[in-house]
Amino acid sequence: MSCWVVMESEHSSQAAPAHFGRLLLAIDTCGPTGSVALGRLAGRDLEVLGHVELEGRSYSTSLIAAVESLLTEAGVGLKDLGGIVAVNGPGSFTGVRLGVAAVKGLAEAGAAGAEIPVVAVSRLDVLSRKAAVPSAALDAHRDEVYLRVERVGAAPRELLAGVRELAEIDPAPLRVAVCDDAAAARISASWPATQLVRVTAPLAKDALRMGEARLVVGAHVDLALLDGHYLRRSDAEIFGDTRAGGGKTRMSDPAPSFAAGVRIRRMTPSDLDRVIGLASGLHGAPQWSRAVYTLAIDRNATPPRIALVAEELPTETVLGFAVAMVLQPESELETIAVAAAGQRRGVGRSLFAALAADLSAAGATDVHLEVRSSNAQALAFYAALGFEETGRRPRYYTDPVEDALLLRLRLPETHAR
Ligand SMILES: CC(C)(COP(=O)(O)OP(=O)(O)OC[C@H]1O[C@@H](n2cnc3c(N)ncnc32)[C@H](O)[C@@H]1OP(=O)(O)O)[C@@H](O)C(=O)NCCC(=O)NCCS
Repeated sequence: MSCWVVMESEHSSQAAPAHFGRLLLAIDTCGPTGSVALGRLAGRDLEVLGHVELEGRSYSTSLIAAVESLLTEAGVGLKDLGGIVAVNGPGSFTGVRLGVAAVKGLAEAGAAGAEIPVVAVSRLDVLSRKAAVPSAALDAHRDEVYLRVERVGAAPRELLAGVRELAEIDPAPLRVAVCDDAAAARISASWPATQLVRVTAPLAKDALRMGEARLVVGAHVDLALLDGHYLRRSDAEIFGDTRAGGGKTRMSDPAPSFAAGVRIRRMTPSDLDRVIGLASGLHGAPQWSRAVYTLAIDRNATPPRIALVAEELPTETVLGFAVAMVLQPESELETIAVAAAGQRRGVGRSLFAALAADLSAAGATDVHLEVRSSNAQALAFYAALGFEETGRRPRYYTDPVEDALLLRLRLPETHAR
């Protein structure tokens, strides 16, 4: 595991026993390096009981081990946590999804019968508070920044900004918090009069205090709806696709917030009517019973499944869905379907990108599937995603009788960018 543990106290060297006060865990895997922190709130005092820094590209193997090591060092268990603070983006697509998936798993596993409350905070918000400056910028690569702009009397806005977007913001903020050279250079070049306030990169322990404030006011997120705070489209990150529908998202509300256009999220019971209706009118889609979908969204089912829907914003119309089964280290894509009216807009690709990240986070290294040999549309889609044919099952399907082609995709090694 590429990490190290530091046990520390923000206020006193004589740390009180960990069972006093409210215990909070914070996780941030959005940046080039990640971190996990455990803190205890007693009254208004926050004591950081420990933090673990994680090397980038190691989150899939090091994150959960780091959480366990922090809890063990503090002599507590998951069930003792009063809340989890998820720094859910913006940042690396894979890192964000791994962190969000881990938070969901921990929140569900931690408390018997009741989930551990989870709050989501934006990494830009953490940076801006760390520097005590309302506006903040983080490197987003490709000469762009993730930008937070807060003005007196207006709600803060977060966006992905390149040269053009920065030029359009007038007047520029007087001061901007930065923690990396690339963001500092971009801001200086576009806004020469703006003062840069440099601080070290935001860490999970910096997010603990913010999370506490949100927990106190009951601003918990619904776990089924918790998702990454993406300011760049996920499929663009994974597949390098910047076409319409798979391109960039510009403006978004601060966390918990979602990209404009199409949002990918977990399937919930309230989606089932729409999902079944969508499949029933679509050639090539499975005609499953409600019981099969109900099992697919049952978090306690064995084997575990990941079921996602794509919905159009702001109408929240479900455009498509995908279901996969995890059989570590393998996984099987059981179905993916997009309503006819929503096809060829990158929705299927986005759904699969999100699914692939969740499958990686769940420990899968490969995705398998079988498809009717006559389903040219699906075969073209799978080929575009990089699937390769591994075999054929003669006369596998009935009504009509037809061969199944077996396809496989190796998932990219999970890593933080
Ligand atoms: C297969 C399916 C899910 C694709 O969804 P989609 O949202 O239209 O796919 P995308 O827009 O993300 O397409 C991604 C790429 O796949 C390929 N592709 C998708 N549909 C294609 C088609 N009809 N013909 C040729 N290529 C196609 C293209 O390369 C496309 O990229 P491009 O648009 O930049 O050329 C959709 O066609 C569908 O629901 N089909 C019916 C159900 C089905 O057969 N499901 C699979 C078996 S269960």
